[in-house]
Amino acid sequence: MTQELWSAVDQYFAELLTPRDAALDAALAANREAGLPAIDVSPPQGKLLYLLARIQGARDILEIGTLGGYSTIWLARALTPGGRVITLEADPRHAETARANITRAGLEAVVDVRVGPAQETLPKLAAEGCGPFDVIFIDADKASTPDYFTWALKLSRRTSIIIVDNVVRDGAVIEGANSDPGVRAMRRFFEMVSAEPRVTATAIQTVGSKGYDGFGIALVIADG
Ligand code: SAH
Ligand code: DHB
Ligand code: MG
Repeated sequence: MTQELWSAVDQYFAELLTPRDAALDAALAANREAGLPAIDVSPPQGKLLYLLARIQGARDILEIGTLGGYSTIWLARALTPGGRVITLEADPRHAETARANITRAGLEAVVDVRVGPAQETLPKLAAEGCGPFDVIFIDADKASTPDYFTWALKLSRRTSIIIVDNVVRDGAVIEGANSDPGVRAMRRFFEMVSAEPRVTATAIQTVGSKGYDGFGIALVIADG
């Protein structure tokens, strides 16, 4: 009762709840064509990001880790009129693929893809006075998640939500002796969350077409 069933159930939900969508399908096809890794959020996960952003009435969204823009398209479609998504991507080839996918989805006017390591782009965004963001989705190099969470807090205000992907990784998150930098980073992230009075948070384990993983979700409850 594992991967095969999880994928079948994801497909069942996807068929009923995330009907075939030309722009999203084309984005995944273009990513494959360009040789990008197939590590986009799944359709039900993309829909979750969309729902959270819509519930939030988001006007300003920050994404760290664009890949081919699949999650970006979900987030951008949830924007309130006049809103925009800024999405950060280190790899110029990924960013180029994402821009084409976002344009095909008709969202180029509301999405700003910034190329470069997020560690360098985030201070620039702060210096430009960008933010506070209503929704921040952290999904880039896993080892930097604690740093990105620190930046997310700086670029937040009361009522912002911060969503972090890949926090479970097949359960490795509970392994205190695991030396994998990604696992160590997620444990550090949860320690930070637990000690941070400005947020209240949860973590949700997920199974599906992307295996066994999960999201961290934090609500900012005080101004920075
Ligand atoms: N959010 C995407 C998936 C992102 S995959 C989706 O669900 O569709 C992670 C992405 O983070 C990759 O494209 C990778 O190139 C990018 N990345 C890795 N290190 C980075 C860094 N330091 N700064 C910005 N992006 C980075
Ligand atoms: C990987 C990265 C992701 O963001 C993800 O959702 C799944 C896998 C990876 O680097 O393997
Ligand atoms: Mg991810």
